[in-house]
Amino acid sequence: MFDVNRVRAAYPALSDGYAYLDGAAGTQVPAAVIEAIAGAYRSGIGNVGGTFPASGRSGSIVAECRQALADLTGGSPDGVILGPNMTTLTYRLADTLSRRWGPGDEVVVSRLDHDANIRPWVQAAGRRGATARWAEVDISTTELPPAQYGELLSERTRLVAVTAASNAVGTRPDVAAIAAAAHAVGALVYVDGVHATPHVPVDVGALGADFYATSAYKWSGPHIGAVVAEPALLETLHPDKLAPAPEGGPGRFERGTAAFADLAGVAAAVEHLASLDPSATGSRRQRVLASMAAVEEYETRLFARLLDGLGAMEHVTLYGRAARRAPTAFFTVAGHSPRQVAEHLAARQVNVWNGDNYAWELAGALGLRDSGGAVRAGLVHYNDQAEVERLLAAVAELA
Ligand SMILES: Cc1ncc(COP(=O)(O)O)c(C=O)c1O
Repeated sequence: MFDVNRVRAAYPALSDGYAYLDGAAGTQVPAAVIEAIAGAYRSGIGNVGGTFPASGRSGSIVAECRQALADLTGGSPDGVILGPNMTTLTYRLADTLSRRWGPGDEVVVSRLDHDANIRPWVQAAGRRGATARWAEVDISTTELPPAQYGELLSERTRLVAVTAASNAVGTRPDVAAIAAAAHAVGALVYVDGVHATPHVPVDVGALGADFYATSAYKWSGPHIGAVVAEPALLETLHPDKLAPAPEGGPGRFERGTAAFADLAGVAAAVEHLASLDPSATGSRRQRVLASMAAVEEYETRLFARLLDGLGAMEHVTLYGRAARRAPTAFFTVAGHSPRQVAEHLAARQVNVWNGDNYAWELAGALGLRDSGGAVRAGLVHYNDQAEVERLLAAVAELA
């Protein structure tokens, strides 16, 4: 049973009186995550691979973090690459994967995606003389029609990069259908799961993701990114690395010393997600799936109220009409720039984002790039109806 009041009590920052509707840009963290990070430092940690207990504790933290991400995504702990954030890891993988590309090869990116799942691939393709092809958004529906991939894919396609959810308009494309089409021509599939992971149960196998990228700071954890892949696939790749760094496993893709204490916080964040439905039982993976299903249901209901409220205001234009979507509203207000709206809301203790939110291609396709983008109000599992009503009342004042 999902109980938002119980959930909110776990987050110290939520007591400051602000409505945090900026979760799509980064969430607050529960006390258990703060304690896990502080606890790692308090108990003494060392670098990994040493002979003494503090070193062993860091080794355990890394192993536990990989397991937690595997439980969150349905992947294998030996295929979890850890790093500072999704953008850094995606550039690193684009550099590594593109070594196999040359003239005549193609990669397919989508105009729905955050730029972090576009530019690293376009730039890597350019360096190798390969070609980037574009999947387009249907602006009338903000859907990414999977049928177009039939035309875009061929035996020349090396990689398809696609998002599991748009961080601007919320669209959740049919990734499984796109991945099946990509696999049919022998291409790899790189899924940006940064915006989807906080909102839905994730199963990398069901999605058909060869690589699934996520960022813990979008789901109540610290600023750490991860990419989940099949261990056997990673073994075929050869990233630049230091000579003494590991020869096998995901560690080859992780440069330098990790943020060990933060990794302890990532595992605590997964445990937090697993506990969101306290009636869920079984393994942590099972509890994550049950809890995230409860989160999806809760957020969908709350989002319907947000959309109904904004949709009823004549001075508001809503973007985002996809049938399946994350609870993220993207809108403009007549007579006010997105920045002015965000300032008006901040003065009423409502945190929202304004701009293109790095959904740069989509903002261009929607005709919003040169006019300051739009306002983004996103829900996560700790938001409640009172916060939504406060946002709606504040936007209504701008009529
Ligand atoms: C959908 C999406 N992809 C990628 C990113 C980039 O993630 P990171 O900040 O971990 O590099 C973001 C960040 O906002 C995002 O929302």
